[in-house]
Amino acid sequence: MDRDVIVALDFSNKKEVLDFLDKFGDKKPFVKIGMELYYAEGPEIVKEIKERGHKIFLDLKLHDIPNTVEKAMRVLSRMNVDMVNLHAAGTTAMMEAALRGLTREDGTRPLLIAVTQLTSTDQESMERDLLIKEPIDQVVMHYAVTAKNAGLDGVVCSPLEAGKVHEAGGKEFLTVTPGVRFADNDKGDQKRVMTPEQAKKIGSDFIVVGRPITKAADPQAAYARCIAEFVND
Ligand code: C5P
Repeated sequence: MDRDVIVALDFSNKKEVLDFLDKFGDKKPFVKIGMELYYAEGPEIVKEIKERGHKIFLDLKLHDIPNTVEKAMRVLSRMNVDMVNLHAAGTTAMMEAALRGLTREDGTRPLLIAVTQLTSTDQESMERDLLIKEPIDQVVMHYAVTAKNAGLDGVVCSPLEAGKVHEAGGKEFLTVTPGVRFADNDKGDQKRVMTPEQAKKIGSDFIVVGRPITKAADPQAAYARCIAEFVND
């Protein structure tokens, strides 16, 4: 799998997102559409961005009973997206059902990536609210291995965890890593960050970059810098 930069389209409406994408001219970055934009604009926004020539990671983090997730994934697969995700906490049966739903009649399907524990969950809230008492890094690795055994393609994780995920899940098991900042950037609300170059060294397969590109004075230049640091050898 070739390394790539995924631009997080964290915008609230179609106009903002299309104005932003227009700044890239002929360049068609791999983009991530999250819940805010999807719920605001619906499947049409996915279709429109796809027709413009972008690869799409549809970040809807499904988590429901296996039958419901299978049917929902079938719908997402027909939208021709390139990557989708779910919560590994839905367990193996749900992940296997998701794969069945995603697989098209010709055998192709979007990549399926698992969320382990959200980075907003810490040891204390996991123990208190979820009654999971193991150390959180072990829980994250356990979820990653469970996702791999269910047949998924990879996990969303911190770039700091990418090396360990590859040790546990193998080199081909993909790591999709947000929390990326340029060395001279403001970190914003991200606490544990890495530069694109460090993420490459540690073995991330995809970096998900939002504000360092979307809020840059020159988004195209910021994107080109990410490509230069992360993709190019
Ligand atoms: O603006 P920034 O680069 O921080 O955006 C990162 C993107 O990755 C956002 O869309 C955010 O929701 C997402 N993300 C994250 N941390 C996670 C999972 C997803 O920052 N653990």
